[in-house]
Amino acid sequence: MPDEVLSQFTPTVDKTAKIDTSKKLKVGIIGTGWIAESHIQSFKNMPDVDVVAAADLIPGKAEAFMKRFGVEGVRFYPSHKELIDNEELDAVSICTYNRQHAGPTIYALEHGIHVLLEKPMCVTLDEAVEICRAEKASGKILSIGFQPRFDANMQQIGKIVRSGALGEVYYMQTGGGRRRGIPNSTFIEDKTAGVGALGDIGCYSLDMVLNAIGYPKPLTISGYTSDFFGTSTDYQSEYDAKRFSVDDFAAAFIRLEGGIILDFRISWAMHLDTPGDTIILGKKGGLRIPSTDCWNGTVGGPMKIYHDVAGTQVETVIPILQNPGKMGLFDRKIRSFLDAIKTGGPAPVPTSQILYNQAIIDGIGRSAKLGREIQVVIPEI
Ligand SMILES: NC(=O)c1ccc[n+]([C@@H]2O[C@H](COP(=O)([O-])OP(=O)(O)OC[C@H]3O[C@@H](n4cnc5c(N)ncnc54)[C@H](O)[C@@H]3O)[C@@H](O)[C@H]2O)c1
Repeated sequence: MPDEVLSQFTPTVDKTAKIDTSKKLKVGIIGTGWIAESHIQSFKNMPDVDVVAAADLIPGKAEAFMKRFGVEGVRFYPSHKELIDNEELDAVSICTYNRQHAGPTIYALEHGIHVLLEKPMCVTLDEAVEICRAEKASGKILSIGFQPRFDANMQQIGKIVRSGALGEVYYMQTGGGRRRGIPNSTFIEDKTAGVGALGDIGCYSLDMVLNAIGYPKPLTISGYTSDFFGTSTDYQSEYDAKRFSVDDFAAAFIRLEGGIILDFRISWAMHLDTPGDTIILGKKGGLRIPSTDCWNGTVGGPMKIYHDVAGTQVETVIPILQNPGKMGLFDRKIRSFLDAIKTGGPAPVPTSQILYNQAIIDGIGRSAKLGREIQVVIPEI
């Protein structure tokens, strides 16, 4: 992974921030792979958290993980079920691969435990609906792990839209991705990941624009996915090419409520540096958000608003903003979840929004398989 991808996970907690430590939250970690490292580092920095339990399907992995991070007094379990059945927890971080997002989340909510679930929310729309129903029945906090939400530059996109500077938004283009950047491990097999670039980095790209305009409902989708790089021994080892069973590129034309069009493409690998910047077109102005070449869910450079002033076409540059305080984005994601538990909510990254994100991911996959446009039908929660 490039440095700029890894650096966003570096814990930089502001230890001077005032945190109420009178009640300590008992937390468990489910799945102790790569992203769980960022969770444990952030939890270790939070004075109101005790990490008391961890589970992983691979024998010995959770034990080695906690030893590596110097966390003592943790009880270990062979899967999420035993952990939830045997512990009295306030919250869990679910850091499992995508195919194991829905099951553990629903099980935790049914047992009255607050959940921080890693992105993407899950694999299918059906799973997302089941998760939302379990959340509603439980009354617990469920937040989805989109740390770019906490970046001042990402937040600025929504502020620009809400300021009226663009007028009524009618068209958006989003996506991007990598020229070469197929992950390996559990990310490339259908049985663990369930979805490739489309879910892995596509979910961030969709969230960037949908969150900015208030998450309108998706209505129809014409989607495309391919796997030319992932399955080719020109770019992958024979071992990885053989087990590659997800997408490495996806594109779609999506109609959203309110007559808004979303044109989307995302890539883990292609013969191009970027398939384009993110663009939001409104009746009064257009916003260009430079892409990043690895698509790590951030703004790639100063944004520009194209508009007319007194009959003259002008461009306004929005400088890159520094995030306030000393917390990194990942720590903000963890802190906001803990604060929501303590204050009774709302969830910082709510499923009411991410359900639509998941409906689009699901719809692109379904439309691509059918080779035609599909209607998006989201059942009542
Ligand atoms: N927020 C981010 O920036 C970010 C970055 C990377 C990955 N992720 C997400 O985090 C998730 C995990 O990614 P990763 O790279 O850590 O994967 P990983 O394969 O390294 O780790 C997943 C671990 O979960 C374990 N596991 C699976 N099902 C389990 C269950 N039911 N009970 C207990 N353990 C179980 C596996 O054995 C494995 O060790 C993915 O959904 C991914 O999209 C988020």
